[in-house]
Amino acid sequence: MAGGGFVVGDGQKAYPGKLTPFVLFTCVVAAMGGLIFGYDIGISGGVTSMPSFLRRFFPSVYEKQQEDATTNQYCQYDSPTLTLFTSSLYLAALISSLVASTVTRKFGRRLSMLFGGILFCVGALINGFAKHVWMLIVGRILLGFGIGFANQSVPLYLSEMAPYKYRGALNIGFQLSITIGILVAEVLNYFFAKIKGGWGWRLSLGGAVVPALIITLGSLVLPDTPNSMIERGKHEEAKTKLRRIRGVDDVSQEFDDLVQASKESQAIEHPWTNLLRRKYRPHLTMAIMIPFFQQLTGINVIMFYAPVLFNTIGFTTDASLMSAVVTGSVNVAATLVSIYGVDKWGRRFLFLEGGTQMLICQAVVAACIGAKFGVDGTPGELPKWYAIVVVTFICIYVAGFAWSWGPLGWLVPSEIFPLEIRSAAQSITVSVNMIFTFIIAQIFLTMLCHLKFGLFLVFAFFVVVMSIFVYIFLPETKGIPIEEMGQVWRSHWYWSRFVEDGEYGNGLEMGKSSSNQGTKHV
Ligand code: BGC
Repeated sequence: MAGGGFVVGDGQKAYPGKLTPFVLFTCVVAAMGGLIFGYDIGISGGVTSMPSFLRRFFPSVYEKQQEDATTNQYCQYDSPTLTLFTSSLYLAALISSLVASTVTRKFGRRLSMLFGGILFCVGALINGFAKHVWMLIVGRILLGFGIGFANQSVPLYLSEMAPYKYRGALNIGFQLSITIGILVAEVLNYFFAKIKGGWGWRLSLGGAVVPALIITLGSLVLPDTPNSMIERGKHEEAKTKLRRIRGVDDVSQEFDDLVQASKESQAIEHPWTNLLRRKYRPHLTMAIMIPFFQQLTGINVIMFYAPVLFNTIGFTTDASLMSAVVTGSVNVAATLVSIYGVDKWGRRFLFLEGGTQMLICQAVVAACIGAKFGVDGTPGELPKWYAIVVVTFICIYVAGFAWSWGPLGWLVPSEIFPLEIRSAAQSITVSVNMIFTFIIAQIFLTMLCHLKFGLFLVFAFFVVVMSIFVYIFLPETKGIPIEEMGQVWRSHWYWSRFVEDGEYGNGLEMGKSSSNQGTKHV
């Protein structure tokens, strides 16, 4: 036995502990943070295709939409204020996630969740009661601040709370709750759009109060993680809590490792500059490239603008919201496939299969839209079969994303960072994700207006680039304990030159100490 925990057959460490109802409860409550993120992703597209909402806040867009359908359909939604409404949230989330990292470290994960919940609530109320465009935008900025806090703290909370054997499943559970949030928002939009009097959008936007209250109240009853308590010097409290979480009395091995891990990471004075060291080059590269590519799949064009997009290609408001509900359901179902397959088929297989699937669909959708709308954006009569083909291929595309770049875009970074750089590297991943979510949201409608169907070919090009990148540079991480992850870089034809023997950091799994280094091939 080396250090804390005992070593099982394959050299992997094991701590006593089970999946207690207590830990399940805390993780389910904490994962609600993902639900709210998803709700926000799903709500804006539906609302911006409701005529009463457009007439009130974006009259120029509304007027363009009312004009004869023979005018240029690609440009009917091209409005800077409308895109500002959608994307302001992501910029706010980016800024607040950086602030949240300090709150989370100094005052605990729970407080960040509480802040997140309260900011969400206020933002949702301002949006629900909005009378002017500025109220809409201020409300969305507050929601964004809430998301920044929640997304910074919730994944950390889940990883620290979960028994290590179930950590992977609980992490993809976070992505699952994002997809459920998107679907719920789309279903609600569908029904609220039918409300007579045209005030349904108030319910859609104000509805964010419900999941926001859940996370606010939840954070008040949730305990803080043992890691966070130890970090803040509350050792005895942490030990008692760990016993309760794990459902066993003997937690001393894991506890000692947590103390050790906390000492080691506190010894790092400058986590950000540490990240720039040569031996962390592969990690830094992945921390930036994975979220960058995730957004360059173009998924959020569908998530934010599915109803707008379906309207553009000739569906009525009602039918287009319904189509968005269909894509939302496919998104949830395909995420379940990923949970099932990720440890059986491996990450690389899913990345490459999903990439190929997305590429084919993007080419077909571009061809369909191009054939009907041409370069001037005038569709003429749109037959039913045409609409069915487009929606089908968009669904196959969403499925491809939902079992590859969707969950893996969050899972892979979280499993490759050694403890000493984990939190800094994770912040980079979150920030890059938010920046590119923002950029895509900001320029999509203008791109649709200028590039027309060629827009889909731009994303298709990036899917080719990212698949080649994965094929050449991303090693398989399936079935490899996090604390042994160093071996995948050392045996890699390219990355081995950066990560030499003895050069690699401890590569500790969250909450495990370096004391087991002797047991592995480092
Ligand atoms: C992405 C989001 C996206 C969502 C779709 C997430 O992994 O980060 O940008 O909207 O998946 O399900």
